[in-house]
Amino acid sequence: MLINTLELLNLIPTKEDCFNMKNNIPQVSVFQFLRHSARILKNPLPFHKKNFEKHGDLFQLNLGFGKSVLFCRDSDLALLALQKQQKNFRKSDIQTKDLVKYVGKGLLTNEGDDWKTQRKLLQPTFYKKNIYSLLQIMQSTIEEELELFPVDEEFDIFPFFSTLAFKVVAKSLFGDAISDKEIETLQYITEEAQMMLVKELRQPYKKWWFSLTGELKDKIQLTNEARELILNIINERKKLPTQNKDLLDLMLQSTYEDGSVMNENQLLDEILILFIAGHETTSNALTFTIQLIAQDKQVKSKIDEEIKTISLNENIELREILSSSTYLSAVLNESMRLYPPVYFIDRVNNKAFSYKDFTFEKDTTFLFSLYAMHRRKDLWDQPLKFQPERFMKGENYSKQFFPFGAGPRKCIGNNFAMYEMLLVFHFLNKKFNITPKFESIEITPLISLKPKNAFVSLRRK
Ligand code: HEM
Repeated sequence: MLINTLELLNLIPTKEDCFNMKNNIPQVSVFQFLRHSARILKNPLPFHKKNFEKHGDLFQLNLGFGKSVLFCRDSDLALLALQKQQKNFRKSDIQTKDLVKYVGKGLLTNEGDDWKTQRKLLQPTFYKKNIYSLLQIMQSTIEEELELFPVDEEFDIFPFFSTLAFKVVAKSLFGDAISDKEIETLQYITEEAQMMLVKELRQPYKKWWFSLTGELKDKIQLTNEARELILNIINERKKLPTQNKDLLDLMLQSTYEDGSVMNENQLLDEILILFIAGHETTSNALTFTIQLIAQDKQVKSKIDEEIKTISLNENIELREILSSSTYLSAVLNESMRLYPPVYFIDRVNNKAFSYKDFTFEKDTTFLFSLYAMHRRKDLWDQPLKFQPERFMKGENYSKQFFPFGAGPRKCIGNNFAMYEMLLVFHFLNKKFNITPKFESIEITPLISLKPKNAFVSLRRK
């Protein structure tokens, strides 16, 4: 969500880089930013890297008009905000206001007591045992989609993974009650809404224009169409006897402490949020992972070996495939270390506080950079090297590695995402040999860390 906060203002140069005597926080003037703004807006990560290297694990970028953003790669401070003292922090307006326009108030965009009540209600839906019951649906969706991947030709695999991840969420939610055409419509609407949000954040000075031309209204109207489509599916489902086949069944059966169930609007918001939160993140991770695997012969052959061993048992259950895929799990973790799909987590503090030598004023916007944290030289041995083995040594990295976030707002779909990705690579590797058709891994850091030009070629085994 996050980086584009930088673009929210009409920037005015303030003083050059300095050190704030009052709060001890290294300051970066907007002048620094403006000098290279075109390059930074395209890819802000080198700007962050340079400043982290110069100033240490945090620095404050002053944006003028008394506004500033604090960039942080201190994992202890991140855990304090997300976990230990999470009550004193809230999400920024980008999630709790800007995104709400399109998808309403679901888990990702909700705050305070409402969020707490919803999280308590929905947590059991995502228990491992419930996700296990979706594995069959996941498998058939994945295998069907893999059949549509081009063979023996160079192609960008990202849009294919994007559709696959969207379908897995749609089918896990609604099973066969949703048609391919409806999934296509929902995917189109979700992506249009996401693109409009990016536009609003990148060009805040054009907000009046988006309103005047009706562009904003059109996109919001589109999301209303998505709500209608989903509502029809829900209403049809309610006519059927209670079942336990997909996420919708589970959500319909979830009850609050007083025994009541979610109202229609809340259910729609939660479902739209699952599409937003669950599809782009997963397709980014799938794409970076296949690129990393394609580039590394040794890793590729270790995965082949693992899958060969697992496949010796012809009657193996999907759950066993997951629990036996230890190397593949390490590959996925290592991929999310280097390319965390959610590369920033934002928080704002509700009251002033001190940490180490620093003092933070109330209402400071923190951007915790998972990307920078996961590449810190003092925390990781050879941080830039793709080395899945580091996740096989039984070391506990929970204080420095949290691609799914941490604390009570940790990703509710983390098991769902891991199981889905393991199944994708299991079946993809059984079917295809992968050849890289790119020079180096390219990224587009927008709302999430997106891959770019992920060209590969697949050959049937
Ligand atoms: C590789 C894939 C994924 C990654 C890296 C990821 C990452 C994250 C992160 C970092 C957060 C915390 C954000 C914060 O604290 O501000 C989050 C929250 C969330 N994620 Fe995921 N996610 C992934 C897949 C999924 C999937 C598949 C679903 C659902 C099917 C999902 C649903 C959610 C929801 C609903 C939240 C909000 C939870 C709350 O605030 O209570 N995510 N995710």
